[in-house]
Amino acid sequence: MDRYGRTINGLRISVTESCNFNCFYCHREGHPRSSQEMSPDEIGSIVKIASDFGVEKIKITGGEPLLRNDIVDIVAASVKPGIREVSMTTNGTLLSEKAQELAEAGLDRVNVSLDTLDAEKFAKITRRGALQKVLDGIAAAQEAGLVPIKLNMVLLKGMNEDEVDRMISFAGEHDMILQLIELVDLNGEDFKEHHLTLEEIERRLAARAIAVRTRRLMQSRRRYLLPNGEVEVVRPMHNTRFCAHCHRLRLTPDGYLKPCLMRNDNLVDILSWVQAGDTDGAKKAFVEAVMRREPYFKRADKCPHAL
Ligand code: 5AD
Ligand code: SF4
Repeated sequence: MDRYGRTINGLRISVTESCNFNCFYCHREGHPRSSQEMSPDEIGSIVKIASDFGVEKIKITGGEPLLRNDIVDIVAASVKPGIREVSMTTNGTLLSEKAQELAEAGLDRVNVSLDTLDAEKFAKITRRGALQKVLDGIAAAQEAGLVPIKLNMVLLKGMNEDEVDRMISFAGEHDMILQLIELVDLNGEDFKEHHLTLEEIERRLAARAIAVRTRRLMQSRRRYLLPNGEVEVVRPMHNTRFCAHCHRLRLTPDGYLKPCLMRNDNLVDILSWVQAGDTDGAKKAFVEAVMRREPYFKRADKCPHAL
């Protein structure tokens, strides 16, 4: 538990900075590029320490995690006693080749980034991607049982806000959950042009919902059950409730624990201890990172780390 009473139940591991897309809004999980990448064994050792401290959920992310050619070993290394769920966030392009192997290695489910169902818009947003490959990847993930699949849709003003209903139906038809994500500001100009608050969209969802659930252990996100599907709303910007219910720690590809997506000034090196075979040192580093955790948005109007 951190100094603010938030228990840590999840570790979000970025395994590479590389990506085969180049989405214009990408926050790169909040860290600058690094060249070093942890090995599957090193990742496994850190997962073991996290699970000894009570972490139950592992999310593997990137860049694009499927670009690692040892990704199946990374998944296998993340399956440890005490870990209830190993999931992955991917852009989906390589899923058709890898879904089956990943499932066999112990991956439970995937989140696939999908902002639009319009092939032209998709190419414009990702600057490199092809929609059909992602749709094929989603089908392969379903076939392999990597379910429930969540679709991550980042709302972009002037680009995809008119597609929310279509995406809800698409997700619902295929038994997937749609996550509507508010754009996070990590690169200035694009943010001003494309940021949407999601307030209006959430109001419309609330009016149509059969049931609403608040996920207290997941940043207090709301999930709306609609007649044609299920939608979760992720609203991190200037949202004190979101930060108050943040229960995750991050790990960078080069082995630093990262207490907060939005900050780079409080990272803790854990990999060096693991490489030196010093488990006690690694455990101390883990505790140190937890103790450095602090809600980023504490007061909606006055943020000490304003960007
Ligand atoms: N704001 C919100 N979400 C983002 N993602 C990437 N960059 C941003 C941003 N600036 C999302 C991607 C992916 C997930 C890992 O993070 O859409 O689904
Ligand atoms: Fe960033 Fe994901 Fe897009 Fe790659 S696919 S550029 S990691 S948002």
